[in-house]
Amino acid sequence: MTSSDSDDALVTSAGDIQQETILVLDFGSQTAQLIARRVRDQHVFCQLVRHDLSAKRIRELAPQGLILSGGPASVYGKGAPQVDPGIFELGIPILGICYGMQAECKALGCEVKPSESREFGHTELKCKDGGPLFAGLPDSLTVWMSHGDRVENLDESFIVLAETEDCPNAAIKHRDREIYGIQFHPEVTHTQQGEHLLGNFIRSICGCKGSWKISSFIDQECEAVRERVGNSRVICGLSGGVDSSVTAALLYKAIGSQLTCIFVDNGLLRKGEREQVEYEFGEHFKTDLHVVDARKRFLDALKGVDDPQKKRKIIGKVFIDVFKDESKDIEDARFLAQGTLYPDVIESGANPDGPAATIKSHHNVGGLPRELGFELIEPMRMLFKDEVRLMGHELGLPEKLIWRHPFPGPGLAVRCLGEVTPQRLLILQEADAILIEELYESDYYHKVQQAFAVLLPLQTVGVMGDERTYEDVIAIRSVDTDNFMTADWSRLPYDLLQRVSTRIINSVRGVNRVVYDISSKPPSTIEWE
Ligand code: XMP
Repeated sequence: MTSSDSDDALVTSAGDIQQETILVLDFGSQTAQLIARRVRDQHVFCQLVRHDLSAKRIRELAPQGLILSGGPASVYGKGAPQVDPGIFELGIPILGICYGMQAECKALGCEVKPSESREFGHTELKCKDGGPLFAGLPDSLTVWMSHGDRVENLDESFIVLAETEDCPNAAIKHRDREIYGIQFHPEVTHTQQGEHLLGNFIRSICGCKGSWKISSFIDQECEAVRERVGNSRVICGLSGGVDSSVTAALLYKAIGSQLTCIFVDNGLLRKGEREQVEYEFGEHFKTDLHVVDARKRFLDALKGVDDPQKKRKIIGKVFIDVFKDESKDIEDARFLAQGTLYPDVIESGANPDGPAATIKSHHNVGGLPRELGFELIEPMRMLFKDEVRLMGHELGLPEKLIWRHPFPGPGLAVRCLGEVTPQRLLILQEADAILIEELYESDYYHKVQQAFAVLLPLQTVGVMGDERTYEDVIAIRSVDTDNFMTADWSRLPYDLLQRVSTRIINSVRGVNRVVYDISSKPPSTIEWE
């Protein structure tokens, strides 16, 4: 991908920038997205762009401010990402954070050197002449540092705003221009009042009013979709999850009867999922909903297969075949809508020659290949997950759907360990439904991020009445996590676990034992297959 391709990523979604916007130049920090998130918390639209976006392009986009993110490199390292020095001549306020500050200072002729000791973790920051960046903040703050290099020998064009014991230039400002640099990370929660400092930059220094709202984003996206689509038809694949549901609801608002939704019942769904989709998109939103009953096709293809990766491959392939068959007869269909979110855009390498290390590997089941020949519409590619939920709420989707736990593309197949058969799926669906019901009843559903039942491929001995039984085992998995990349098992109350276990054993035929999974990720994964 070239620099100009990624520039285009700026304008494909909500049209060119017309609203108050802060751009974050991404130098590869794992917290670059978090910076964008924090800015949006202040109701100002914010996007990550490549660190080397040209000054010319930035002038065209006319953001209110620029933030240069941190990054793992050393400014003097081989191939270290640099910034176009022209950006400092644009008259746009700039805040460099950590590596961003160092790149800024180097570009402006100051010296950056390795520190004698790496500073990592909490540090006490003492404000000297805070100015507008530190307005309303105490003279002393605990901040989060993570750096090896630091800016030395500032010339007289900069003034020092704050220092720490190891870092005399912990916060600086250009004497004549609105160019700031801070060595610490205001975006992480470990920095005391970091959001206040960012707010000072965004509002007082950049002059943003903070008028960005999800409702205006919806209107803007609808307009953009209508303009792009014209009279053509758009197909949206529904999975039952929140992303595709919000995408469909948004498109329905934008183009109404020009939208066709396709929902593939692969027989691997949670209990009641198909009915919920039928109600939501067939009755509530009266979309042209095609429910494809492909249960037999999937289950036939999975017959005798117990290897998890083979299951995934088969399901992915059958899904594409079914989707192809269904969509080929839909007249005038030119576009395919997908619920891609902003983190996917960044993590899946929309910026592959950018400096960010890829830290999340992707599960690709449920994806549709380009060869289907549709043009893609991704109306949510600029949004974070919680913004998508907010959008779902605004569009009138029910809370239960909006807050639904994530569900893997291959569905219950990867929770039905061993061979997937209709009988085993039924057992798993029933057990899972009991767990979810009890989590709702006890107000725990929203306290954990993902919970589900797993059917193990083995039988154990039990005793019911006077009879010895030899039946299936259900494992319960529930995790607390911020990002699904690491996770801890949920400390669910014993009495809740007891109710789940009793109900499953008493009412799900063929199960005589329930166990609770107490493994964290890593080293385990969230799913069992
Ligand atoms: P793991 O098991 O890798 O799961 O810790 C992390 C998150 O990814 C989901 N997951 C999948 N999602 N297709 C998907 O679309 C898959 O094959 C798949 N496998 C795991 C999992 O549910 C969890 O939220």
